Amino acid sequence: MDRSEWGERGGLSAMARPRVCVVGSANVDLVFSAPRQPLPGESVSGTAFGMFIGGKGANQAVAAARAGAHVDFVGRLGSDAFGNDVAGALEQEGISLKHVTRDTQEGTGVAGVVVEPDGTNAIIVVPRANGRLSDKDVQRARGAISAAGLLLLQLEVSLDATLAAARVARRAGVTVVLNPAPARELPDALLQLADVITPNETETRVLTGIDAGTPEGARAAAQALRQRGVGTVLLTLGDRGALLLPPDGNALEVPSFPVRVVDTTAAGDAFCGALGVAMAEGRPMEEAARFACAAGALACTVMGAGPSLPPRLEIERLLAPAP
Ligand code: RIB
Repeated sequence: MDRSEWGERGGLSAMARPRVCVVGSANVDLVFSAPRQPLPGESVSGTAFGMFIGGKGANQAVAAARAGAHVDFVGRLGSDAFGNDVAGALEQEGISLKHVTRDTQEGTGVAGVVVEPDGTNAIIVVPRANGRLSDKDVQRARGAISAAGLLLLQLEVSLDATLAAARVARRAGVTVVLNPAPARELPDALLQLADVITPNETETRVLTGIDAGTPEGARAAAQALRQRGVGTVLLTLGDRGALLLPPDGNALEVPSFPVRVVDTTAAGDAFCGALGVAMAEGRPMEEAARFACAAGALACTVMGAGPSLPPRLEIERLLAPAP
């Protein structure tokens, strides 16, 4: 069964669902399976092709909806067929698109993804309409951001829009989770607005200059991010799990879930969407991090971004102790 066909949300009634707002990007992913990445000047024969809904913002919105949240998505799509595809797919997930603008000057964002047999990927993203999400768009969505239990942010729309959204949320007392992806340097002004930050190893290196490839490195990098003003640091370390560093300074390693990896695209988005839901439900950070790790692992088992984002029941099944 395609995961998008999972209608019920783990038995959560509409009343019990937390509200999560996502301000970010939406793309159509053109995915090529190939024995390996091409070298410069080389053509490689691929083995499969697929088109999927993607973009870190849309992926996190779908991940949060499937994990049980009511989701408001704030973003920009082109006035083109890809925009219709993305809007239709998000609506099918029950996500509110009241604050999605259809841009008339730029087309919908696109990504070219090459997936190798071991599931690793390389991605080129052309932001197009995503790059035109503005401070004004965010101000128009103030109501949805302020009404949410939690705001999810990434870095595929302008820094201005991201900062504006974080400021609106903080002013309204809404928890801000920042997924600093794709990797780039960030001003302290944004880091200080983040209650939680979720960088992977590459993003951690760009933000701190520290290699999180060893347990000591990961702890040092997490401390460095805390010193720049982030509330809680949650490093995602792939098959090494995650490292949680809360404000009390007591670091905790969160184990990974061994799975058969098909495609790692959107594993970080599944992690962040599920984390947002568990946090908005008021679960302790350690429990929320485990829920997120399970969702991230499951996303690696299915090809494509949108199709791989796991529903709540599947996450809970992976977390349940073996009988
Ligand atoms: O995080 C995965 C996403 O990154 C893909 O869906 C692609 O669109 C890029 O934005």
